[in-house]
Amino acid sequence: MRLTDHEREILSGSEGEAARLAMQILVDLGEIYGAGEMLPVSQAHIDMTLYMVDAGVEFVERLAELGGRFAVPTQLNPSAIDFRRCRELRVPAELEEKSRRLERAYLKMGAVPTWTCAPYQQGMIPGFGEQIAWGESNAIAFANSVIGARTNRYADLVDVCAGIIGRVPRFGLHLSENRRAEALVVLEGFTSEMFASSAVYPLLGYLFGEIAADRVTALAGMPESVTIDDLKAFSAAAASSGAVGLFHLVGITPEAPSLEACFRGGAPEPVVVTPRMVAEAEERLSDSTVEHPDLVALGCPHFSADEFAALNELLQGRPVDESIACWVFTSRAVYAQIERRGLLARLQSAGVAVFSDGCPLQYPVKSWDFRAAMSNSAKFANYCYSQTGLSVVYGSLRECVETAVSGRVSREAGLWRRN
Ligand code: F3S
Repeated sequence: MRLTDHEREILSGSEGEAARLAMQILVDLGEIYGAGEMLPVSQAHIDMTLYMVDAGVEFVERLAELGGRFAVPTQLNPSAIDFRRCRELRVPAELEEKSRRLERAYLKMGAVPTWTCAPYQQGMIPGFGEQIAWGESNAIAFANSVIGARTNRYADLVDVCAGIIGRVPRFGLHLSENRRAEALVVLEGFTSEMFASSAVYPLLGYLFGEIAADRVTALAGMPESVTIDDLKAFSAAAASSGAVGLFHLVGITPEAPSLEACFRGGAPEPVVVTPRMVAEAEERLSDSTVEHPDLVALGCPHFSADEFAALNELLQGRPVDESIACWVFTSRAVYAQIERRGLLARLQSAGVAVFSDGCPLQYPVKSWDFRAAMSNSAKFANYCYSQTGLSVVYGSLRECVETAVSGRVSREAGLWRRN
């Protein structure tokens, strides 16, 4: 790689051992991908924020001890725990201790403690064309596709190095030539009633990810009425069933004003997605036949203030059944917003538990005796069994609420579902 004088100095240790190590990792990565040079990024979003293995904690602590400091604004994905409600979440002492070690190391290096996987809905939201270094697959897909910012799907800890150096190797989705669509998906047979249901977008994302795999793929037929929260759910699902880093929604996302613009020429033969395929995807995602789940898990990715308002409206003041836990995960910023508006108190008095900082897939499994969960998130449903051992039912937010209130799985017939 061609490095500038300053980059070469960092590599020889002029800015300390942490910067030298981070630069070496980035240069090695660039050489693997054939990058000719580095390019500056304006911010980083770190994915390695929840405790998984000791090596992750030790790596971050080592960088912090060696004097590592983030050179660009750097924010954090969720922790494994809610730092402020450890007792309520029954967090074991060892998990709390390791999570707090990660917290201390990141804060020492100057990270912003956002602890959210929906960083595009608050605070440091990048702009169109901005070069960034983000981890967390749903956030990457959203930033690239919906905002038009530019990041690769950075692996855990590479994002930390990018934050310390403020630069990344120039390759992949940072470059215009790699953002051209390679495959096309077309929606056919969907009615306006189907598109009016927010439950369709996670399922479309899940199917889209399976088809797209790691290709930049365009999708035609998405309605203009699609909301930011729908696109969040779509991005999360697509990036969990496929290695999706960038998609184009024709006529909706900023780099896709037309099919022609997506492909910079003629489009290939499309893969058609129909309501029947959505029904089949939903069946694949629901592996539970349990009638009485123990947990309704919402907020994967983290709930927005609008989603909390919708939840409150659907609950209509009814209490959650005693047989079931209804948990919602969100960011500290949204938690504070709904607290100020009085929404949090209303939800809590109905028996809804709201957690910030954490992730529903990382709850302390051994501290709870859950057997089956229900969620409106296709990403949660996709990973639920492998991460937690729980079987899962996918359903709309309305169905999740009715299930929480009755303690019994509530499903509605119609729309794309086969009766
Ligand atoms: Fe966020 Fe955890 Fe889901 S990090 S996207 S809530 S799996």
